[in-house]
Amino acid sequence: MSLRSFKANLRKVLPYRLYPVLFAPIHRRHRRRAIRQMEAEDARYREEHPAISFPDAELRFNVCGECTAAGFLSDGRRTTDDLAAALNAVGVKPESIQTGLDFGCGCGRLLIAASQRWPQLRWTGSDVDARAVQWCAEHLAGVSAVVNGHMPPLPFRDGEFDLIWCGSVFTHLDEGRQDAWLAELRRVLAPGGCLVASVHGPKCWEVLDVSDRVLRRIQEKGLLFVRTGFDEGVHPDWYQVAFHTQEYIEQHWSRFVEVGAYLPTGLGEYQDLVVGRKPIEPGKH
Ligand SMILES: C[S@@+](CC[C@H](N)C(=O)[O-])C[C@H]1O[C@@H](n2cnc3c(N)ncnc32)[C@H](O)[C@@H]1O
Repeated sequence: MSLRSFKANLRKVLPYRLYPVLFAPIHRRHRRRAIRQMEAEDARYREEHPAISFPDAELRFNVCGECTAAGFLSDGRRTTDDLAAALNAVGVKPESIQTGLDFGCGCGRLLIAASQRWPQLRWTGSDVDARAVQWCAEHLAGVSAVVNGHMPPLPFRDGEFDLIWCGSVFTHLDEGRQDAWLAELRRVLAPGGCLVASVHGPKCWEVLDVSDRVLRRIQEKGLLFVRTGFDEGVHPDWYQVAFHTQEYIEQHWSRFVEVGAYLPTGLGEYQDLVVGRKPIEPGKH
């Protein structure tokens, strides 16, 4: 048995609570090596494409793991296709939207592409990560970027946004935080506006190779939050991994928004996408 398959098998039998102790050091070492490699590739890419600006290797690694600059940028473009398809599923065209919030924007993977693709749309990005927000504020023309607290409220008015995008944010929060943020995002969403958020659905359970025991717990509870320690020292301690079922989303998230569409593997053919809408109260426009 190779070391790689030994490790994979070990993961399947170990309870998640042991992950932070056993795997966090391995992840830290992998992260350091990967960032060094990415930096070397970035230097070559910058020489060949001096006019293209992109976030540094460490900022990129923090949101999407090991990736080249070109891969990061093309991922953002593909995400705008996925977002357009999600909106289309509820009959909304991105070209008709005026104001958008990228909640948990990181270092602008979506914002770089979306601000170019839909110039009529005024984007705001917000994140708890001050360094990532600073990159967006300094490099994205026409986008306003703000740091938000780890719990609500957001510094925005009621109904300020027609669209809220959350790419891989609810994939990392426990139920209490998810509920608090769903209520807050509903507050800042305009009546009739759309909240598009990604979650770790069945394709992710498969790719992440969760054990049968974990699979049973996801299916029984509908939402499973596990502490993996993979992001120790990179993200706050409350930032771990959450898995959702479609049934849970349809029952539980409908307390906050009308669930208008659920697109399995709608984000990058990997995470599922949920499209929620804030109802328009009768008599109000
Ligand atoms: C996996 S990264 C994805 C970043 C970005 N959406 C993208 O697709 O590149 C998750 C991001 O969510 C942010 N985040 C997590 N919880 C948050 C919260 N409560 N408020 C704002 N940002 C949050 C993290 O700081 C991180 O930048």
